[in-house]
Amino acid sequence: MIIAANLKTNLTRSATHSYIQELQKFADVSSSDVLVFPAMTSLDNFQTKSITIGAQNAYPTQNGAFTGETGLEQLDEFGIKTILIGHSERRHILGESQEFLVQKFNYFKEKGFKIVFCVGEPKEIREASKQTMLTYIKKQYEGIDTNYENLIVAYEPVWAIGTGLTPTLEDIEDMHAELKKISAAPLLYGGSVKVNNAKDVLSVKNVDGILVGSAALYAEHFGKMIQYADELDKTK
Ligand code: 13P
Repeated sequence: MIIAANLKTNLTRSATHSYIQELQKFADVSSSDVLVFPAMTSLDNFQTKSITIGAQNAYPTQNGAFTGETGLEQLDEFGIKTILIGHSERRHILGESQEFLVQKFNYFKEKGFKIVFCVGEPKEIREASKQTMLTYIKKQYEGIDTNYENLIVAYEPVWAIGTGLTPTLEDIEDMHAELKKISAAPLLYGGSVKVNNAKDVLSVKNVDGILVGSAALYAEHFGKMIQYADELDKTK
């Protein structure tokens, strides 16, 4: 399974070092793929073999005049080959368009990056109808190579992110079955995954892992989720 932490705009570089160190106890003995996406200024040469460090964002360029952005050259310095693209906070708060996401996707695909591509619907779309929801989410895949070998998809309902609300397990199963028809890539669930619901979510059919925000800020909590994934792996 794939157990991923999106640290968003949290933890300084030194706090991230302590975090990675603590998390290693869990990752070292795990059969799961553990991914951590630190804040951009917290990227560093982390001494870890069991945790893959990824970038929460980057600009599709080697380098150049893109004030405030991070290019391939800056990621290369830390050996980063994994990136998050299409997160709802970048789509909705930072206003990234589908066209721009496709541009980023193609750039980092061409560079061979592992891409965690996020999709998910806002509340009003979920409340409209299942068909509206599927039409909305399908548009988020437009222009994306759904057969890309290093693709991981994360289904993160916007209304579930940071709210403590989650879809029912039946709804997650239903949605994941639909999304697997669009892409056979590993499919993560994200949105208010906590220690107390992680095991249930991980047990759902077609859930290949989780992408965790706030609850992942505690290494012990995130570590527990890694252990759950391993326990489930054994019983499969
Ligand atoms: P929360 O786990 O805080 O809901 O955030 C989920 C998320 O956005 C992960 O990318």
